[in-house]
Amino acid sequence: MVSRFYLRCINCGSIYEPNEVSCECKRCGDLLTVEYNFEILSTNIIDKWRERPLSVWKYRELMPIEDYSKIVTLNEGGTPLYKCSNLASFLGIKNLYTKNEGANPTGSFKDRGMTIGVTKALELGMKVVACASTGNTSASLAAYASKAGLQCVVIVPGGNIALGKVAQALIYGAHLVSIHGNFDEALAIVKKLSTEYPFYLLNSVNAFRLEGQKSIGFEVIDQLNGVPDTVILPVGNAGNISAIWKGFTELYRLGIIEKLPRMIGIQAAGAAPIVDAMKRGLSEIIPVASPETVATAIRIGSPASWKKALRALRDSKGLAEAVTDQEILDAQSLLARKEGIFVEPASAAPIAGLKKLIEEGVIDKSETVVCITTGNGLKDTHIIIDRFANAIMEVKADFNDIVSLLKRCCII
Ligand code: F0G
Repeated sequence: MVSRFYLRCINCGSIYEPNEVSCECKRCGDLLTVEYNFEILSTNIIDKWRERPLSVWKYRELMPIEDYSKIVTLNEGGTPLYKCSNLASFLGIKNLYTKNEGANPTGSFKDRGMTIGVTKALELGMKVVACASTGNTSASLAAYASKAGLQCVVIVPGGNIALGKVAQALIYGAHLVSIHGNFDEALAIVKKLSTEYPFYLLNSVNAFRLEGQKSIGFEVIDQLNGVPDTVILPVGNAGNISAIWKGFTELYRLGIIEKLPRMIGIQAAGAAPIVDAMKRGLSEIIPVASPETVATAIRIGSPASWKKALRALRDSKGLAEAVTDQEILDAQSLLARKEGIFVEPASAAPIAGLKKLIEEGVIDKSETVVCITTGNGLKDTHIIIDRFANAIMEVKADFNDIVSLLKRCCII
């Protein structure tokens, strides 16, 4: 029987069986991608999708898992798509939405990938799952590993990971290794570990994991009941932008949508190799040796999925832009204060990018724009407490003192 899906190398095109454990092509070492035999997909998948609630598993016909009865799930996906009218009018744009991925079970979009990746780990008979992480991947993998009864090893860049994320990995019981080094070094180590030991690698170099993440694209189309002109998201290791673009192209191929959005990737100025390659028209990225940014989630100098990301950006006629740490922090409070949405710094990068690109006239005011806010603000609070410490008004527990304080604030 012809399998519903298989793996293909993005460089040399070598084909692999659906049960391949390795994340890399054995011939050329490049990344793999999941392909579906579209001709054997049932013709009425849209009808099936209509009957199911919004979630990663709504789209199971386009997910690389055979046995739906054995999935590892924490009810990921189905996150809100907010119409942001206050922010839109502030920025001078007509239609602005944010897809709030912080509403996922562990507070980031990673859960979409881990439900697929950890289900796949069980399917392949793996006992240990592993990843390198700037924080969210480790939190998510640790949670799904617990649910699946698997051991979990995570390697993080010491001193550069938000405390909330460390707490998550610890409470879920992961083996947490903190290195004196950055994410890129952590990823190189965990890759080597997973080739020498039976550890199942669940970074975004794992093509199965990215399939779960493409459901962000599916859900945006479902929730908008149409195709946005532009989708903006933060870029770190560059898996997510590739995954979401893949989702859109699959719907296009199936005739479910008739046009494609353009993808805009935003990086922090101190960690922007994709932006650099796009702006200079390079065919390869030049890694940043010492990436720096307040947005620790995207503090990555050598994105593993750079090739997929450059293709997504170019194929979608999109672009990449860099924003400063100050622009990121300003955008974080802007989104919170205009829309009541609290995101972590990395997730504010698309808002900062949107503001910049509207000002530069790159994004037209008539466009329908969707920003993907990738992670929950509660994971990373120390910067906010530092920034706003002066705003806390401390007084005696005295009614009259408080009234005069509020008078000074012009509230009374
Ligand atoms: N936003 C958040 C909140 C993230 O945690 C990440 C990546 C990204 C954006 C970028 O996504 O890597 O697919 O381009 N975090 C990874 C981690 C690297 O380890 O948690 P990407």
